[in-house]
Amino acid sequence: FYGEKNSFGVQPTGSIHLGNYLGAIKNWIDLQNTYETLFFIVDLHAITLPYDTQQLSKATKDTAALYLACGVDTSKASVFVQSHVRAHVELMWLLSSATPIGWLNRMIQFKEKSRKAGDENVGVALLTYPVLMASDILFISMQSDFVPVGEDQKQHLELTRELAERVNYLYGGRKWKKLGGRGGAIFKVPEPLIPPTGARVMSLTDGLSKMSKSAPSDQSRINLLDSKDVISNKIKRCKTDSFPGLEFDNPERPECNNLLSIYQLVTSKTKQEVVEECLDMNWGTFKPLLTDAVIDHLHPIQVRYAEIMSDTTYLDNILAEGASKATSIADVTLNNVYQAMGF
Ligand code: ADP
Ligand code: NA
Repeated sequence: FYGEKNSFGVQPTGSIHLGNYLGAIKNWIDLQNTYETLFFIVDLHAITLPYDTQQLSKATKDTAALYLACGVDTSKASVFVQSHVRAHVELMWLLSSATPIGWLNRMIQFKEKSRKAGDENVGVALLTYPVLMASDILFISMQSDFVPVGEDQKQHLELTRELAERVNYLYGGRKWKKLGGRGGAIFKVPEPLIPPTGARVMSLTDGLSKMSKSAPSDQSRINLLDSKDVISNKIKRCKTDSFPGLEFDNPERPECNNLLSIYQLVTSKTKQEVVEECLDMNWGTFKPLLTDAVIDHLHPIQVRYAEIMSDTTYLDNILAEGASKATSIADVTLNNVYQAMGF
């Protein structure tokens, strides 16, 4: 289902929780074995709302290191930082001249976020950031048919498709053909692809909402870099119930289903194996088991992360290689667009 080239833009949050990892990142990283895969940290997207300048580059590097620690293999895949590849912004300017303001005004995320902050506090970048996202997508997907995109980004992908069609219509035409373009199309119009997700991991404090970085309580999530003690405490204090035994799929026991699912995911056991193992357990016996399994699962990631962070030259080199690879892909697209637009 994937294109030959797949790219994943990730926010420079500097931290990743178990839900992100088990539900998405693990699956994305597995793609490196089959397809050309690029991971990029979208630092330029992180400035559309007020942000901390001291934190930005640190969070960007931490995030890159985390992806590497989670298993990105740089002999197969690339990791780069969006701002290191100038073509993102250059292509955005060209695309923005072809983007009707009305299209951007209609974006739900813009409407919601600008309503909250108020017009005088919102930078123009909050309005135009879908054009930067289109640029991210189109420079890679010029040679690719599918774009993996999260549910919440579907409207932005739709805008990217319309924009690609509009640029093809405005600047493709006969002129582009004469210049050696491909049958009038400058961009392939990418198809959205909702990537396969692993199980949904739910909050430790209610079992009903999804584990999320934006939940106010850190108690509700396990972060990949949480220490043994922190993990142990979070699981000790997480919400449970007073039913006898443990079971999956009882709608009255969402916490139980969630904790068994996490156990299943981190141990790579089958559901049946977990059912047989845990059927007669109580929370007092299951929680230490789950704690050890989570700690064991995260241990190699944490060790690798510490190694990477202890050698900044190593990380800088990987990011420089990634940027150079991405630049060579992006420049082909960028030059085509410049040429088609009459430069
Ligand atoms: P968050 O909700 O923590 O802000 P994001 O919205 O940034 O997470 O999601 C990043 C990726 O991780 C998406 O692909 C999303 O589907 C996945 N993801 C986030 N939370 C979970 C979860 N609790 N369980 C499974 N997958 C998740
Ligand atoms: Na979110």
